[in-house]
Amino acid sequence: MFTDKIIFITGAANGIGRAAALAFAARGGTVIAADINASDLAETINMGAAAGGKLVGKQLDVSDFAEVSTVIEEIVREYGRIDVAVNNAGIGGVMARLGDVRPEDWDQMMAINTSGVFYCMRQQLRQMAAQAGGGAIVNVASVAGLRALPNSAPYVAAKHAVIGLTKTAAREYARKGIRVNALCPGFTVTGLFDPEAVDAHSAGASDQLRSLIPLGRFADVSEQIGALLWLASSEASFVTGMSMVVDGGLSA
Ligand code: NAI
Repeated sequence: MFTDKIIFITGAANGIGRAAALAFAARGGTVIAADINASDLAETINMGAAAGGKLVGKQLDVSDFAEVSTVIEEIVREYGRIDVAVNNAGIGGVMARLGDVRPEDWDQMMAINTSGVFYCMRQQLRQMAAQAGGGAIVNVASVAGLRALPNSAPYVAAKHAVIGLTKTAAREYARKGIRVNALCPGFTVTGLFDPEAVDAHSAGASDQLRSLIPLGRFADVSEQIGALLWLASSEASFVTGMSMVVDGGLSA
């Protein structure tokens, strides 16, 4: 499905990003997997290589524009193009009511979850617009990009911004053959969302959360990947500017 495609994924050391990197590699893509966490990233690369995939790791802090720009230049120098980009790196942030959010926590959230996506998109769009055949970008936003999540105002604001960037870029670059979509996961068990940590913070809170989800459970990372692959693939050739919700019915 992705044979001969050059695929760039951020946040690929863990969780949804790792599962995506392995899935693209299993489908024939050449995956450039980036993350700030070098040791976990090496594990992703080893897992993919053991399964016969083509993966290369790049240590990258997406909140540093110079680093983003350098990594994308390196990819283009080495592979000539970027067919698919998945901007997935992100943090969950500190939980607090808006009036108790520390400005430094707000700044960190915006730097990683919003500026990080902007920096990557900026460089990816310039490359994809210059190359023959365009490309596809999938930004990993969140259901929190579409509705409120109490005690997470910076995260909610950052993810709403990602959806705004997605829609705007989709309209600006459609005529260049570039599709830009957002995946909006609901609660998915990863390092970022760990039900045990939720209960440690507030006893019984994970059961309360579960009860809000019509399917009655949290997602496994594997359940985010079908939608992500589809958005990135030619199967979705007429889909752009969309926010695709995969949340077990939470936002229905
Ligand atoms: P995770 O914590 O398992 O993986 C996130 C990865 O991003 C980590 O490997 C981390 O090292 C990397 N990262 C963090 N800051 C970085 C930076 N400055 N530069 C480069 N890499 C950085 O989390 P998960 O759940 O897989 O999250 C992936 C995306 O999915 C995030 O954007 C998150 O907001 C989003 N999401 C997750 C949901 C969930 O319930 N797990 C729900 C909705 C959205």
